[in-house]
Amino acid sequence: MPAGWSFYNRRQVNVMSLPSPTLTTLVHAMRYEATGVVSIELRPAEAAPAFPCFTPGAHIDLHLPNGLIRSYSLLNSAADNQRYVVAVLNDRNSRGGSRYVHEQLRVGMTVPISTPRNNFALREDAARTVLLAGGIGVTPLLSMLDRLAGLRKRVEFIYCARSRKEAAFAEQISTIANAADIKVSWYFDEECSGPPNLKQLLAGRPADTHFYCCGPGAMLDAFEQACEDLGYANSHVERFAPVPIQPHATISGAGYSVELRRSAITLQVPAGGSLLDALLDAGIAHDYSCREGMCGACETKVLAGEVDHRDSILSKAERAENKTMMVCVSGCVGGSLVLDM
Ligand code: FES
Repeated sequence: MPAGWSFYNRRQVNVMSLPSPTLTTLVHAMRYEATGVVSIELRPAEAAPAFPCFTPGAHIDLHLPNGLIRSYSLLNSAADNQRYVVAVLNDRNSRGGSRYVHEQLRVGMTVPISTPRNNFALREDAARTVLLAGGIGVTPLLSMLDRLAGLRKRVEFIYCARSRKEAAFAEQISTIANAADIKVSWYFDEECSGPPNLKQLLAGRPADTHFYCCGPGAMLDAFEQACEDLGYANSHVERFAPVPIQPHATISGAGYSVELRRSAITLQVPAGGSLLDALLDAGIAHDYSCREGMCGACETKVLAGEVDHRDSILSKAERAENKTMMVCVSGCVGGSLVLDM
C-alpha cells in the first residue's frame, strides 16, 4: 500500500491540434463544493432546449478560453440533460487548466465542449455494485450512485479523501443514500493516519459484485491489485492521468501495415510512428482528442492482427479480446492490422 495517495491528480490533457468541438455551452452557475473544489453547471448556449443524453460515467472535454482542453466527468443525474455539471479541483500541480477554471472562468462565459463519451460505463444489470471514490474521483461515481439508487439496486459507496472538508458532494451522497437505504463508508486520511488497505476494505463481497473506482493513480493501482488478489473479475477504473507510455518495443524494428477494410486502403506506419498520424496524413478524418490514450475519442474496431495496447482505458480483459484499440497511442505486435473503417 502507498504511504499516501495524492488526491490532487486529475485528468488533464494538453492537445496541440484538435477536431472542432461540437457544442457551445454557457456557464450557468459555479459553486463552491469543498476546499479547492468548484462545480460548473453548463447549459446550452444556443436555442437547443437540452444537451445530448449521457450515461453515468461519461465525461466531456472542455475547450477552455485559454486554449487548453480538459476532460471532466459528468456528475449530475443522467436523467437530467438540461445541464451538464462537472467539478474541478484546484490542482497544486496545475498545468493551466484547473487554475484557469478557478481564477478566470466565470458565470456567463461560453465554453465549447465535446459531446459526452463514456469509457467507464455502468453495468446496470449487476446484482451488486461497490463504488469506491478517491477525492475528486467522486464525480462519475456520484452520477452512478444516483442511477443505481433510482433503479433500487444493491449498491455500496466508499468515499476516501484527505479530510472531511475536502470531500466534495458528501451531502448529496448522504441524501441519495439515505433515501434508498444505501450504505456509505467514509475514510479520511487525516483521521486514519493514511489511506485504507483496499484489500481488507473490499474483501468478503460476492464474486459477482461489480467494483468501480475513480481516484488518483496510486489508489487505482492498489484497487486493481486488491481486486486481482481477491479474485474479483468485475473491476472497473477511470483514470485521471495517462499511464506512462513506453516505446513500442515490439514494432520498433520495422513498422507495420494497416488495412482499412471498409475504405479499401492500406497504410504503412513507420517504426515508432503513430497510427493516428498515419491516418491523418493520409487525409482520413478520424475522431481524436487527447492523443494520450485517455479520452476514448479515437477508439477503433479491430478486425484482425494483434494490437500493442498502450492506452489507459481498456481493461486487461478488453485488451485480451483485441476487439478495439486507441489509435493515438497503440500499435501492432506483428506486421499488420486490419481495422473496421
Ligand atoms: S485521442 Fe484520446 S484516446 Fe486517443
